[in-house]
Amino acid sequence: KKASALLTRFPLIPVRGVPLMSHIAENFDSIWAFRPDPSDLLIATYPKAGTTWTQEIVDLLLHNGDADACKRAPTPVRSPFLEIYGPPPIPSGLDLLKTMDPPRFIKTHLPFQLVPPGFWENKCKTIYVARNARDNLVSYYFFDCMNMTQPEPGPWPEYVQKFMRGELSWGSWYDHVKGYWREKDNKNILYLFYEDMKENPRREVERIMRYLDVSVSDEVISKIVELTSFEKMKDNPMANYSCIPAPVFDHSKSSFMRKGKVGDWKNHFTPQQQKMFEDDYKEQMKDVDIPFRNLI
Ligand code: A3P
Repeated sequence: KKASALLTRFPLIPVRGVPLMSHIAENFDSIWAFRPDPSDLLIATYPKAGTTWTQEIVDLLLHNGDADACKRAPTPVRSPFLEIYGPPPIPSGLDLLKTMDPPRFIKTHLPFQLVPPGFWENKCKTIYVARNARDNLVSYYFFDCMNMTQPEPGPWPEYVQKFMRGELSWGSWYDHVKGYWREKDNKNILYLFYEDMKENPRREVERIMRYLDVSVSDEVISKIVELTSFEKMKDNPMANYSCIPAPVFDHSKSSFMRKGKVGDWKNHFTPQQQKMFEDDYKEQMKDVDIPFRNLI
C-alpha cells in the first residue's frame, strides 16, 4: 500500500473492550494467532512508560555492550512491534517477525489479556515496565501531538479525562499496570518501574541481566548504563526514532526523546486537575498495592 494512503490518524475500535487503533483491531485475529518461539522475549508496556529505553538495554546486554552492533538498525527493526501495522517505513510487526530468527525481543503495548496466548504457553520471558500515571499521561499527550497515526489528542484538560476513563489508544493505564502486576508471579514477569531505572540505572540493568540469564562484566554494565542514558539515546539516530520522519512523526511538534524525567507532570497539571486526578487514582487503584513512587 502507498504510504500516503496509510497516513491517517486511525480511529479507535474496541477489541474485547480495549480501544485499539483500527489497523490493529482489524488485524487482531492474526496478532492473537502469533506463535512466538520459547526463546523470544516480550517487552510489554503501556505506551510511553520506557519501552525504547528498555529495548536498548536488552539489545546491549545481548550484544555484550557492543554499541556498533546495536546501531545495525533503528529500534523498531531490531525489536519488532508485535501489533503495529505500518505505515511505512514502520515495518508491520508480524511481517518483520517472519523475517527474523529467534531469539527475538518483541515489543507490545497490548494489555495482559490481549497478549497472544502463545507467549504464555511457551513460557516466554517477559519484561514489563510501568511508569507513574501522571508522567505517563504527560508523555503520551506530547506523543499524540507528534504521532500522526494516533488519534488527535485534543485539548489538554479533555486529554486528562480521556486518560482517566481509559479512552486512549491501548486503553486504560490503570487496567494495564494492574493486569501485568496480578500475573507477574504466575507468568514469571520481570516487573520494572521507570522511576527505579532513573534512580539507579545500574541496579536495574543488572536486574535485567540476571533475568535474561546473561552475564556481562562490570565494565560492560557501566558502558551500557552510559549508552542508555537519555542524552546518549537522544543523540543516537538508531534509538531516537528519527528513522520515522514527518509526516508520520512530526518531530517539530514534540521530540520522541522529549524530557526523560520523573515529575514533569508538575509542569502541566493545574492544582485542580491534580486533586481530581488524585481522588480518581485512589479509587481506581484501591484494589491493588503496586509500589509506584514519586506520585506527589
Ligand atoms: P518523556 O516524554 O517524558 O520524555 P516509550 O519508549 O515507551 O515510548 O517511552 C518514551 C518516554 O521514555 C519518553 O518520555 C522518553 O523521553 C523516555 N525515554 C526514552 N529513553 C529514555 C532514557 N534513556 N532515559 C530516560 N527516559 C527515556
